[in-house]
Amino acid sequence: MQDKDFLMIPGPTPVPESVLLALAKHPIGHRSKEFSKIFSSVNEKLKAVAKTQNDVFIYTASGTGAMEAAISNTINAGDKVLSLVIGVFGQRFADIAKLYGADLEIIKAEMGKAIDPKDLEAKLAADTERKIKAVTLTHSETSTGTANNLKALIPLIKEHGALVMVDAVTSLGCMELNTDELGIDVLVSGSQKGFMVPPGLSFIFVSDKAMAAKAVCKQPGYYFCWNQAKKALADNTTPWTPNVSLVIALNVALDMMMAEGIDQITARHKRLRDILRTGIKALNLKLLTEDETASAAITAIYPPKNIAVAAIRAAFKNDWNIVVANGQKELLDKIFRMGHLGFVSERDILTGLTALEAVLIKLGHKCDAGAAIKAYQEILKESELCPA
Ligand SMILES: Cc1ncc(COP(=O)(O)O)c(C=O)c1O
Repeated sequence: MQDKDFLMIPGPTPVPESVLLALAKHPIGHRSKEFSKIFSSVNEKLKAVAKTQNDVFIYTASGTGAMEAAISNTINAGDKVLSLVIGVFGQRFADIAKLYGADLEIIKAEMGKAIDPKDLEAKLAADTERKIKAVTLTHSETSTGTANNLKALIPLIKEHGALVMVDAVTSLGCMELNTDELGIDVLVSGSQKGFMVPPGLSFIFVSDKAMAAKAVCKQPGYYFCWNQAKKALADNTTPWTPNVSLVIALNVALDMMMAEGIDQITARHKRLRDILRTGIKALNLKLLTEDETASAAITAIYPPKNIAVAAIRAAFKNDWNIVVANGQKELLDKIFRMGHLGFVSERDILTGLTALEAVLIKLGHKCDAGAAIKAYQEILKESELCPA
């Protein structure tokens, strides 16, 4: 059916109507008082979402642009960088560091597993001369639906003294993350995920320590230069023409987020994840990631034996107008991924589960019809929403 598609991919995500309507308006000048007022409000709200006093710079670029800026503003050729890799996006951070000439070391986990803090501890302890300048890590690894335990990993990096650079593209605005409490030096995220806005903006939150690294960084860089961004920030604007319409739309989305409350948003994502995972298990499917390390934004699922990922995705799309994602790189055609981040409610998850069950039964999988929804009823019985 036309216009009926529902995105259950890990971004872009569904966009609320009020945000879409904001996008329909004429752009305004980015050097106007009107824009500066909106920009300043957006900055304050972004900082509230990330729980930080650090400056935030907004780029008209997708998340990868902010990842590149994290490296290009801080890492000189020859600097040692340690990258924690649990999937495609952790590897991307490592690849960018390498491209800028970093002396790169990697700790890599098996797909579907998070970094073991003991491995990080050992690696940092071996760096007796404190040569590692920065550690890059992914909070929610979108390619596997696995989340690293920031509370266990970051204190180890702080103890060592390296810069902490976190990719929070699919975790900020979805999962618990307190930038200042954890002491994150560089945090990157993007508009098309938990922020419920179309793709095109990315955010980078920068600590004083990261700014000090910028001061001695010799890498060339113009568009993404933090000094330029900081100077413009003093006038509540950006150094170059931003995507004004997206900034205005983001302001509307952030107002929605403030009204719901950040802690309530992360609680909602957790609950949606748990409902989805419980339903999937009730349908006799295997998940890639254990419950303890599951991202609250994306769930990666193995198809039943003898049923192709392509067939599942096609049935979702053709029968239900629901778009689910394939695996990426080494997990291509081995898993499918359902996104549940941003503008997503319990109704959407139940629709997704109902569709999943119908798709599987149609394709010959053996499971009890109604099992996923029955599992949901059990969750309801145990929750405050529906006391027995
Ligand atoms: C965890 C993670 N990091 C980085 C990126 C890259 O962001 P973008 O595609 O917006 O450049 C993505 C995109 O999905 C992501 O999920």
